[in-house]
Amino acid sequence: MSLPQQSQKTTYKRPFLRLLAGQAGAGILVVMLDVVAGSWMGPMLGVGAGVGLEVWVLVAIQAVLAPVITLLLGLGRGWALVQFFLPWATWGALYLNIPSWVYFACFILTYALYKNVGAERVPLYLSNRITWRALEGLIEGVNLKDSDPEGSDPEGSDPEGSDPEDSDPEDSDPEDSDPEDSDPEDGVFIDLGSGFGGIVSYLGGKYPEWKFEGIESAPLTFIISWFRTLIGMRGNVSVRFGDMWDTDLSQYNVVYAFLSPAPMAKLLEKAKNEMRPGSVLISNSFWADGVEFDKCLELADGRTTKLYIKFF
Ligand SMILES: C[S@@+](CC[C@H](N)C(=O)[O-])C[C@H]1O[C@@H](n2cnc3c(N)ncnc32)[C@H](O)[C@@H]1O
Repeated sequence: MSLPQQSQKTTYKRPFLRLLAGQAGAGILVVMLDVVAGSWMGPMLGVGAGVGLEVWVLVAIQAVLAPVITLLLGLGRGWALVQFFLPWATWGALYLNIPSWVYFACFILTYALYKNVGAERVPLYLSNRITWRALEGLIEGVNLKDSDPEGSDPEGSDPEGSDPEDSDPEDSDPEDSDPEDSDPEDGVFIDLGSGFGGIVSYLGGKYPEWKFEGIESAPLTFIISWFRTLIGMRGNVSVRFGDMWDTDLSQYNVVYAFLSPAPMAKLLEKAKNEMRPGSVLISNSFWADGVEFDKCLELADGRTTKLYIKFF
């Protein structure tokens, strides 16, 4: 299976320059208008030369022109809305006379949480609990014997056997997990871009015999997840600060990612090169055009989350 043709047309280019061009272009027009109004319209209206337009009028013009230019530059309506509110927000902030260190602090905080929005085009949003439970079912379907790097058989993993519908989330309790039931070869799971560490902490309680790792490169996001795992005090759960692209995926039985469309082609190429036979890649919501997946689970949550699954 691969994604429908329609999504293959979608491109994800960096919007920042076009956003900047939208505001800058509108700004130049507003200044020109203000100069003309001051030197020409002013005397005509009897308010005298050099008297410009009211500030709120200039802001309103900027708030209309910037989205129009942004749309003309090919960005979507969502960005146009951002461009509409930006001049009002800037004016409001200047009006309130907020100290400059507040802006700096907000910038640092935003960067520390959302570092990967710029470079990776991956924002911070979290998998929901229905997804966490679906992952339980998928983990139960992983045949650890087939994930052995020696003697492995790619055909041995049964895609149909790993259906979250087969496992009842309500039945699974950390206390119920019996170490005797688990395979002698314990599985290793990684969440690439682990956010606040919710998934690894949750699954770590459900499967004490598995190891759950997270890797996260946004500093504040990582610190929060690190504290979470520290408080959780589970020996089988850990999070690392680092870049997922430096992670060797051959170490893992299950690789989970919830990223964005932007890095998917690169991730799937990496998985193809590194993941060992019998291991499983699960991607929440996103997949790359033209690349086959084995199964797509649609979850019964509000956003009908899709889990794309590839068995290696
Ligand atoms: C959409 S969030 C998903 C969080 C978590 N996996 C979940 O499903 O709840 C994606 C996370 O990936 C992180 N991320 C993006 N690129 C990364 C990279 N190259 N290395 C490590 N983490 C990255 C982001 O900082 C963000 O926290």
